[in-house]
Amino acid sequence: MNTIGIGLLGAGTVGGTLIHRLVEEHAAIAAKTGLDLQVRRVAVRDPGKQRAFSIHNGVITTDALGVIDSPDVDLVVEVMGGRDPAGDLVLRALQAGKPVVTANKELIAARGSELIAAAEQSGVALLFEAAVGGGIPIIRPLSETLAGERITRVMGIVNGTTNFILTRMSEEGTAYAEALQQAQDLGFAEPDPTADVTGADAAAKAAILASLAFGTWVGLDHVPHAGITEVTAADIRYAADLGYIIKLLAIAEDTEAGVSARVHPVLLPSDHPLAAIRGATNAIFIEGPAIDELLFAGPGAGGDPTATAVLGDVIDAAREILAGAQVAPRIRFAPSELADFGTVPTKWYVRLEVADRPGVLAQIAAAFGEADVSIKSVWQEGSDDEATLLIVTHRAPESRQRDALGRVRDLDCVNAVAAAIRVESDEA
Ligand code: NAP
Ligand code: HSE
Repeated sequence: MNTIGIGLLGAGTVGGTLIHRLVEEHAAIAAKTGLDLQVRRVAVRDPGKQRAFSIHNGVITTDALGVIDSPDVDLVVEVMGGRDPAGDLVLRALQAGKPVVTANKELIAARGSELIAAAEQSGVALLFEAAVGGGIPIIRPLSETLAGERITRVMGIVNGTTNFILTRMSEEGTAYAEALQQAQDLGFAEPDPTADVTGADAAAKAAILASLAFGTWVGLDHVPHAGITEVTAADIRYAADLGYIIKLLAIAEDTEAGVSARVHPVLLPSDHPLAAIRGATNAIFIEGPAIDELLFAGPGAGGDPTATAVLGDVIDAAREILAGAQVAPRIRFAPSELADFGTVPTKWYVRLEVADRPGVLAQIAAAFGEADVSIKSVWQEGSDDEATLLIVTHRAPESRQRDALGRVRDLDCVNAVAAAIRVESDEA
């Protein structure tokens, strides 16, 4: 039998489910893959905690370094999360010649380049299928199946918590705070959901998607991000009236000015394939000249789907250990121009609170015109001192759109720029 000893760093939602599967489904996995996968050591913070799996005495420890260094551990699974100490532990395992499987998007986005180089140096695998999209196979398709495609754009709903909140707000009128609490109760949100709602979690995933899609390493510093904390029920309603739905998107593009990656809420046409993605489901939409459009969708979070992705990587890495060959990285990263976000063409929806008087619309149109931004449509609701103007612009470089917003904000006739959200549609 092809026995592989596994050491885990972490046994929480993902690690605990993985251990349960490795133990309970051992025979089925062996029958299907020919592999005898043995959980040899598991590092946790609190060894006294009640676990959802049962394992032999002596396997659980607080000594994470001991797990890596243990001679009966052939392969390390990092599912503790965060940058520290996970980063140094993963590096140590790779330097010791042990393949690593991780679900840690934050770590890969922050130190992926260094860790991939360490894996290459040792000739072992560093696999992270679960880091983006939970149970959706996306890292392997991007790194292998689509490696020959000149991908032009990747757009994804890559955070289940925020998609769940936006779905509840738009379909049931649930208040933001209540929808967030529901997401936490259902276990989609991070223990501290700040990273979810501010877009930081999606930004880490966007950095990884962009790096793999375009073969150039996109660091987290190059992914501007905004979350959903400013999205209001009013804008969800207005967007629907205009034929759009609001989604938090990770967008990675190969633009004329270079590779660009960003995360922010967008108004998406209601007939776009990503508009149909509801609740905690994730989806990644890929465009390229030969494949045209591909949509990957499924459960983006949760112990079971994520553990399936980790298990697939474990099986892959175990096969490579048994093959005994030096493992080369699936994707090589070449230096490339990264676009300044200011140069990236964007479209905006702007909601203005204005006084409904003669000449107001002309002043606002002039402010957009001075910034060289063309207006696509204007819609007004209300009258007298309490009118609302909804403006959708044509595409123009982001810096010009911001310039226009600044000019509009400075106008005396504009009481407030109540909302400004980018629009993502194929129209100019
Ligand atoms: P979790 O439930 O909080 O589990 C973390 C585990 O790591 C716990 O077992 C914890 O020990 C252990 N741990 C933390 N710090 C440690 C340390 N310094 N030394 C030893 N053990 C330590 O987290 P999770 O939800 O399973 O997430 C794990 C990773 O998967 C993260 O990178 C996350 O971003 C990623 N991920 C999660 C999901 C998901 O749906 N949950 C989806 C995709 C990716 P105790 O049990 O003793 O506290
Ligand atoms: N908190 C994350 C989400 C978990 O809501 O998508 C999966 O990475």
